Amino acid sequence: MAEPPTIEGPGFINLRLKLDFINQELTKMLTDDRLGIPLVSQPQRVIVDFSSPNIAKEMHVGHLRSTILGDCIAKILEFQGHHVLRLNHVGDWGTQFGMLITHLQDNFPEALTRSEALALGDLVNFYRAAKQRFDQDEEFKERSRLAVVDLQSGEPRARQAWQLLCEQSRREFAKIYEILGVKLEERGESFYNPFLADVVTDLEKIGLLQEDEGAKCVFLEGYLNKEGETLPLIVQKSDGGYNYATTDLAALRYRINVDRADRIIYVTDSGQADHFAQVFQVARRAGWLTDAVSVVHVPFGLVLGEDGKNLRPDRGIPLPSRSY
Ligand code: ARG
Repeated sequence: MAEPPTIEGPGFINLRLKLDFINQELTKMLTDDRLGIPLVSQPQRVIVDFSSPNIAKEMHVGHLRSTILGDCIAKILEFQGHHVLRLNHVGDWGTQFGMLITHLQDNFPEALTRSEALALGDLVNFYRAAKQRFDQDEEFKERSRLAVVDLQSGEPRARQAWQLLCEQSRREFAKIYEILGVKLEERGESFYNPFLADVVTDLEKIGLLQEDEGAKCVFLEGYLNKEGETLPLIVQKSDGGYNYATTDLAALRYRINVDRADRIIYVTDSGQADHFAQVFQVARRAGWLTDAVSVVHVPFGLVLGEDGKNLRPDRGIPLPSRSY
């Protein structure tokens, strides 16, 4: 299939494929319905976790990249005959909803009763204004905190307001998926709320949990801070709130135990590489994740603006920490 090898400079041997051979192989592919790609003999259940924008915020370029890369990965696996579950792990829970709902109640209550009252662009502006008030106004902060409590306890009005905010964002996201022709199943962070407490109690039972300044955490192997001390992965904050890592641990367990996934692929920017490595480590040490399941983070580079900073519409506004 190759021309005689040639030596090009020190240490290099060039092999050139014969044109005839290339021709023949390409023709074979072209005339085959499956383009020469066989179906796998043992299809796996694969979850591709991708896109995953956040409610009440605009989808930024990182989510767009994840959407396109994740869709390509899913398509390849589907074509090979795997059973693929395409999951949109949207950020649909957290303290930000308390301040957003409170701010909208004060300024634009229609948004909390009619789903078509608000465009996502407005929602993002409201979000910014709400954040500003949250940082400056103690009384507003306290009311926002109470709104989070209402939401968590399932108080119907808070719940409805939250649902409407999600719907408004969902509508905007759907337009983008429509243009791109991407199909995804939404299973946001809130889906895992009922399982968060179990993550913490189970870690405790196994003996992996330690308390650090009131927060419940697992001390990580191989992660040290500047002082050379072991870094903790916090799974429950001192105020009782859960976080992004707790949700991912619950999601991982659910995907293994209920979805029965053989392989789980996460597509996000490389900024989250440590997060995933840490979550995987804890799940492995807890025995939830075994060698029977493969988990992979597929990282891509951050898209930077001309100023060299991470390009995202919400830049400049420090996001409230994710707590539940
Ligand atoms: N919503 C997250 C973000 O915008 C991405 C979620 C990725 N998936 C996951 N299971 N953590 O950064």
